[in-house]
Amino acid sequence: MAVRVGVLGATGAVGQRLIQLLDPHPEFEIAALTASESSAGKTYRQAAKWRANSPIPDDVASMTVSATDPDEVPSDVDLLFSSLPSSVGETVEPGFCEAGYVVSSNSSNGRMDDDIPLVIPEVNADHIDLLEVQRDERGWDGAMVKNPNCSTITFVPTLAALEEYGLETVHVATLQAVSGAGYDGVTSMEIIDNAIPHIGSEEDKLETESKKLLGSFDGAELTLNDVEVGASCNRIPTIDGHLENVFVETAEELSPAEAAEAMREYPSADLHSSPDQLIEVFEDPERPQPRLDRTLGNGMSISAGGIRESTFGLQYNCLAHNTMRGAAGASVLNGELLLENGYL
Ligand SMILES: NC(=O)c1ccc[n+]([C@@H]2O[C@H](COP(=O)([O-])OP(=O)(O)OC[C@H]3O[C@@H](n4cnc5c(N)ncnc54)[C@H](OP(=O)(O)O)[C@@H]3O)[C@@H](O)[C@H]2O)c1
Repeated sequence: MAVRVGVLGATGAVGQRLIQLLDPHPEFEIAALTASESSAGKTYRQAAKWRANSPIPDDVASMTVSATDPDEVPSDVDLLFSSLPSSVGETVEPGFCEAGYVVSSNSSNGRMDDDIPLVIPEVNADHIDLLEVQRDERGWDGAMVKNPNCSTITFVPTLAALEEYGLETVHVATLQAVSGAGYDGVTSMEIIDNAIPHIGSEEDKLETESKKLLGSFDGAELTLNDVEVGASCNRIPTIDGHLENVFVETAEELSPAEAAEAMREYPSADLHSSPDQLIEVFEDPERPQPRLDRTLGNGMSISAGGIRESTFGLQYNCLAHNTMRGAAGASVLNGELLLENGYL
């Protein structure tokens, strides 16, 4: 029987992607939708300015949106996917966990907390058991798992593939799509014919979240990876798909051919939303490109290319779909991992 799930922040950009991924889904069934007070009480069709590239599923369109409050969500809902602004998530997500709901969240609040698992299932699925520590420490009947920032998800799987060579320093520059800022994030006057060399707090997220994702968990405590990561983030006028330029220095010598092989062979996960091939590696140095390659693996694959030796170690480019692999798809995948590991 399908697990009954809800979406917090269901009317937003990521919320709409979540609905696309969850209806239909073989393991989950949408049973609750929440948004702000201004949407509460309306049908989803009335409340959401639907911009996804497929129609609103009929059963979802007629559902009533409720306020984002644990008292408004049916108690037989087991799992909540949260795509709330982080300022809102910080205030309301813990209340849902206290009330017994398991939350798979996109919002950045709490991602670096010692007892909150930050998970990409293909990279660090074992960190999910940090939930045992979380329940002991917080006394929650529910639980909270986070997925990383969209630009962190893009390059960390490629680093995980190279980890056996001993990661020492990583420099990454991002070229991020406008959808990453939400619908109202960047105006057309700001971004057309332009690039913006700053995205608030983004560099810090890449630099810290990557160390947590690549860290080790011994069943009681999580130790951050000691790789040094430096990031520089740019907004560019693409709609979807974050492209990143990465320089990696490793303890052991690593040729471009070895790096390509390690990325190609890096395993995917045995979960419904995991792509068959996690990292697609191109020989053509002009790929990956956002418009051409962001939907590989239903938007859940990472792609890489242009692998070469440089003055600062190995250099390559990588790409991921920011609202699929980087947001909604990442949360759904964590929901599938929670189910597989008996947390639902
Ligand atoms: N876009 C991306 O690529 C991306 C990638 C990774 C992570 N994220 C993260 O995902 C989250 C959502 O991003 P988004 O782009 O989907 O944002 P968005 O389009 O602005 O949607 C925000 C959602 O939250 C609801 N909301 C706003 N204020 C609220 C309040 N006070 N109480 C309850 N609900 C409230 C909105 O409801 P109303 O419609 O009623 O206002 C809407 O459903 C953010 O934390 C963002 O940082 C986004």
